[in-house]
Amino acid sequence: MSQITSAVQAAGEGSAFLEVRHLSAGYDSASQVLFDLSFTIRAHQVTTLLGRNGMGKTTTIRCLMGLLRAREGEILLGGRHLEHAPAYVVARCGLGLVPEGRQVFPRLSVEENLLVASRSDFGSHWTLETVYALFPRLLERRLQGSATLSGGEQQMLAIGRALMTNPQLLILDEATEGLAPLIRQQIWKALSALKQQGLSILIVDKNLDALQTFADQHLVLEKGRLVWSGDAQAFMQQRQEVQRYIGL
Ligand SMILES: Nc1ncnc2c1ncn2[C@@H]1O[C@H](COP(=O)(O)OP(=O)(O)O)[C@@H](O)[C@H]1O
Ligand SMILES: [Mg+2]
Repeated sequence: MSQITSAVQAAGEGSAFLEVRHLSAGYDSASQVLFDLSFTIRAHQVTTLLGRNGMGKTTTIRCLMGLLRAREGEILLGGRHLEHAPAYVVARCGLGLVPEGRQVFPRLSVEENLLVASRSDFGSHWTLETVYALFPRLLERRLQGSATLSGGEQQMLAIGRALMTNPQLLILDEATEGLAPLIRQQIWKALSALKQQGLSILIVDKNLDALQTFADQHLVLEKGRLVWSGDAQAFMQQRQEVQRYIGL
């Protein structure tokens, strides 16, 4: 068992799982996007990352995934420093990403998309069988080219693909963006089932009603800075203030 697995498994409900300390990042030397971000994601909890468009949510996720190098600060997973780790190392550490825009491999079938992602470093719960049980629609479409799927089906596939890595933390960037209401409901239902199973989740979405019932902790970004954070109760009590930040 790896050092990280044991650290995470030793971590009980609500204990620190991923720690971000004083994170700063940007894309070119002339501009900075993230400023001194610090937050903790707790084991077996759902954490949201909220904010209007362009506030730095995707950039934060890119830093966590090792897709963008932090300029300053630390990213710690189970005590291990990841701020300089390349993306393939981060993926092996148990962070599974459902990226903005889904980005499934269009030339591969549904099943091939799932199989290429398959990893078992952190367990073997997620297989074709368990992913198809979560999303029966993918079973119906298993031999179809992914480019022929609807947006909702592609999102199911993107979630299934991330699960096939048997992640410790599932990160969803715009979980239900652009999807029809019925498909959104199916995605929320699946995510609730994943939460019930104890998976830690970091989620970006604009549907505050769904997030209010689903999430344990909320983080709000404005211009790359953390301007509000709180638990589910604080979110409910201060929702108007949060909505002002988010512009909803
Ligand atoms: N690849 C990129 N190159 C340069 N700037 C970028 C790039 N991606 C995003 N940005 C800028 O970084 C800021 C934050 O963007 P992003 O993290 O995508 O926001 P969000 O996900 O909250 O909508 C924006 O000002 C955006 O224009
Ligand atoms: Mg984004």
